[in-house]
Amino acid sequence: MSARIAVIPGDGVGQEVVPEGVRVLSAVDRGLEFVELDWGSALWERTGAMMPADGVAQLRGYDAVYLGSIGWPTVPDHVSLWGGLMPLRKSFELYVNLRPVRLLPGIKGPLADRGPAEIDMLFIRENTEGEYSGTGGFVHSDHDYGLAVEVPVFTRNGIARCARYAFEQARQRSGRLISVTKSNASLYNYVLWDQVVAAVGADFPDVTVERVLVDAMAARMVLRPDTVDVVVASNLFGDILTDLGAALQGSLGLGASGNINPERRWPSVFEPVHGSAPDIAGRGLANPLGAIWSGAMMLRHLGDGAGADRVERAIETVCLEGRHLTADLGGRASTREVGDAVLAALA
Ligand code: IPM
Ligand code: MN
Repeated sequence: MSARIAVIPGDGVGQEVVPEGVRVLSAVDRGLEFVELDWGSALWERTGAMMPADGVAQLRGYDAVYLGSIGWPTVPDHVSLWGGLMPLRKSFELYVNLRPVRLLPGIKGPLADRGPAEIDMLFIRENTEGEYSGTGGFVHSDHDYGLAVEVPVFTRNGIARCARYAFEQARQRSGRLISVTKSNASLYNYVLWDQVVAAVGADFPDVTVERVLVDAMAARMVLRPDTVDVVVASNLFGDILTDLGAALQGSLGLGASGNINPERRWPSVFEPVHGSAPDIAGRGLANPLGAIWSGAMMLRHLGDGAGADRVERAIETVCLEGRHLTADLGGRASTREVGDAVLAALA
């Protein structure tokens, strides 16, 4: 398969895990061309911008973006995130944030008596609006009675396009979809959400929808993870629940994600869930498996399903053998050694 991929290692451990992903993907698919971009907080410190002014336009020329992480203690988070990733999710209509949650054989999850057969979920997080719309402002900021307003924005189109994707995924898996809201406390946003999900559901008579409130969902993921398969949730709820999901996988370091434009009008962006991890950055301790897994998702999105399967099998082999794991999974291997182990497992 031939594809041009923009590689943005970004901040912190992104610099360590992304090269492992690139090594693995290059071994699996020789048609990939990787172009590295030095965007991120270090660039901001030099230039005052997280990416060049024409950054979004530059990325349009690629088939996909492979991202490490964005965010560093020397840059205010709202500056680093709104200077790159958040606008990108909107500009490129990356309205699905796809996050698999699987406990892999060999990995000890935090839930006693729950094994891989019981923890296998797929989250579809709405990724362009809701609580992350960026709508609001400060008033009276010079005074001690100053205030801030930030208004979640939900649109019919925004909910429907994400829901449709989720129904399609549910159709391909168990035929069960959980829609997560807070409709009991909400008068408008989640009322609309429920209406739109029900309307989209009319096109999917083979999929059953269960509406679950987000607070109950958090408990259910811990107490009855076996009853959870495909989940669709708003931006904030999906964000929170997928960190819980990554914890159920045994480590945040295993969380993988794709910011996806299903129509393929724009390049989709693939990144591990873990973030820049300043506390361990630069020491070769970071777990590269979430980044490598995200790379597999990228291969699948680009059309190399066989390559994606190979990478996922290799990750599974490394986890099952358990000889080359990083400290977050109870091992002593370095980031690089785990990358080597995945490469060896491919062979
Ligand atoms: C994620 C991250 C981001 C998000 C942050 C860094 C804005 O937590 O991808 O889950 O919440 O979307
Ligand atoms: Mn998050």
